[in-house]
Amino acid sequence: MKLFLDTANLQEIQQAAAWGVIDGVTTNPTLVAKEGGDFPSRLAQICELVKGPVSAEVLATDTKGMIAEAKELAAISPQIVIKIPMTADGLQAVAALKEEGIRCNVTLIFSFNQALLAAKAGAAYISPFLGRLDDLGHDGVQLVQDICHVFQHYNFTTKIIAASIRHPLHVLQVAQAGAHIATLPFSVLEKMFKHPLTDQGLERFLADWQKMK
Ligand code: E4P
Repeated sequence: MKLFLDTANLQEIQQAAAWGVIDGVTTNPTLVAKEGGDFPSRLAQICELVKGPVSAEVLATDTKGMIAEAKELAAISPQIVIKIPMTADGLQAVAALKEEGIRCNVTLIFSFNQALLAAKAGAAYISPFLGRLDDLGHDGVQLVQDICHVFQHYNFTTKIIAASIRHPLHVLQVAQAGAHIATLPFSVLEKMFKHPLTDQGLERFLADWQKMK
């Protein structure tokens, strides 16, 4: 399974890339606004820090506007994947952009049927948001399981990005479901390294070594 970092923060991306554990980056307007600065230059900097796909979201809501923005963003780097919201206009843009060889990640997916339509329109990636479903008392992991199961059944080539991940257990659950990718906030990635028995074990090894000396 691939791991993407869900951030627009350059320090976080640099650190995760140095650890050698991330395969790409996803951003969204909220994450980019948090960092401030110029969006295209930030995207170019992110593309220099990671080798894989970097998702950048359009802000237009009509098909024509999305296509125009998508072309500008895609010109920044061949790594750029255009994030398009799950709307009828969005899917029309996805189909048109696919014809031009521009890859799209359909975002804000909250139901199986939305995932199916996005794949049919030609999305290279889809992003079901499990954490936000959990927040409403629904089962986000179940949605990822359903999408993975059916997509495998019909040999869809669309890659499933489990998004809106809230904690390390989500990572295990979406890996078990068969998601191709999980996109993680930096805080979740940090937590994945940690286990108290690792810390205690290392402390004991070093103490025993000191005693022998
Ligand atoms: C995915 O691409 C989104 O940027 C992200 O996972 C949203 O997560 P949130 O629900 O924590 O904002």
